[in-house]
Amino acid sequence: MPRRLPFFLLTLSLLATLSGLAAFADPAGESDASTTPAVDAEVARGKYLVTVMACADCHTPKGKDAQPIPGMELAGHPADMPLPVWRREMFQDNILATIDMSFTAFAGPFGVAVAGNLTPDPETGIGNKTADELIQSWRTGMHWKEDRIVLPPMPIEAYSHLTDEDIRAIFAYLMTLPPVHNAAPKSVMTTMPGHS
Ligand code: HEC
Repeated sequence: MPRRLPFFLLTLSLLATLSGLAAFADPAGESDASTTPAVDAEVARGKYLVTVMACADCHTPKGKDAQPIPGMELAGHPADMPLPVWRREMFQDNILATIDMSFTAFAGPFGVAVAGNLTPDPETGIGNKTADELIQSWRTGMHWKEDRIVLPPMPIEAYSHLTDEDIRAIFAYLMTLPPVHNAAPKSVMTTMPGHS
């Protein structure tokens, strides 16, 4: 991510300049909505929130050097990377959960939780989702693609306290990421005795 940042900022400022020019060329204000100052501000707010809320810690896969894998920013657990294993006996050694090498998949009493692809790829990412669906998911704790709760360690309870505007900003920023085609494996939830 750090190596990509300057380029991204350059793109942003270029976009800002272009939208400034567009305002001259299009005084009626009919230019593409994606270049208006209001949208730029929303995306900037979203980028700030995604940064401080550490989405990349779990959704950007890390390589053997523990650095983010280039070109995989927020693209979720790599499709070909093994998932971590956890066994109930591990409780005896005080091990609550295990994490895979890329820090994108987590195994524990809840099952195996795999951090998904947050880039706008329509097939494997969030390209077909909407901000309203993200708000609904974070308010209820329910997954937005599957009929079940969202598993730990996704901090969904903490994120449920965000305002609608902030969740919209996060979604708007994620939709500006370069789409990465990566089908992160599905999470598997443990069905607890006595729970459906
Ligand atoms: C501590 C690790 C962690 C952090 C931090 C985190 N996530 Fe997650 N996230 C996960 C895991 C693990 C899952 C899979 C949960 C499941 O399948 O039930 C997940 C699932 C999701 C999902 C639903 C699954 C999907 O693929 O669409 C979305 C959306 C999501 N996270 C967005 C975010 C965003 C946006 C941020 C930052 C604002 C964030 N997450 C921060 C670990 C994390």
